[in-house]
Amino acid sequence: MILRPGAPDDFEKILAWRNSPLAIQYSKSGRALTREDGIKTYGDALSRMDSSRRVLIPCLDPATPIGYLRFDIGAEGNCAEVSIALDAKFQGQGHGTEALKKGCAHAFAHYGVERITAVVMGANEVSVKAFTNAGFACIQNETDFSTYELKRDRRHGKTGE
Ligand SMILES: CC(C)(COP(=O)(O)OP(=O)(O)OC[C@H]1O[C@@H](n2cnc3c(N)ncnc32)[C@H](O)[C@@H]1OP(=O)(O)O)[C@@H](O)C(=O)NCCC(=O)NCCS
Repeated sequence: MILRPGAPDDFEKILAWRNSPLAIQYSKSGRALTREDGIKTYGDALSRMDSSRRVLIPCLDPATPIGYLRFDIGAEGNCAEVSIALDAKFQGQGHGTEALKKGCAHAFAHYGVERITAVVMGANEVSVKAFTNAGFACIQNETDFSTYELKRDRRHGKTGE
């Protein structure tokens, strides 16, 4: 798997991945993202005009993008919240776990963050497992959504990715 930065041409695919039935079901809003909101959320990030939001595209090879990772970097700059969605046909094959591991290593190496959090619905068992497999630990357990955290360690700093 390779990860590349998202680009404007990825917008339609990202909107489709974000609006797949499972991604909607497990999203914080529980609703599809409108095109207008999608442009607000991803437009500047994909054009690299918004340094507080980064999008990475995991690809099996350069011609096969399989989903996206989004990192929202907080105002203080030391923490990012990550979200992820894969194309349904690439789910359940270990790619989500690998994308999270590689994407977070990239974020620690290049975005200047010390910790990465994720808000995951408890019912989303596959996602909970993928984040746990990638080294995240639950730091706040709520009824619906729980918060997971991965801290930067020296290994991330040394290896980069
Ligand atoms: C969540 C998501 C990114 C996980 O990626 P993935 O590639 O499907 O997951 P993986 O193949 O890495 O599997 C992670 C774990 O779930 C298990 N798993 C995967 N698919 C499964 C399924 N259909 N049923 C039961 N377990 C499953 C795997 O065996 C693995 O567990 P293990 O470590 O015990 O073996 C992906 O499924 C997805 O995009 N889902 C829709 C959007 C979404 O929910 N995003 C996350 C919002 S927080």
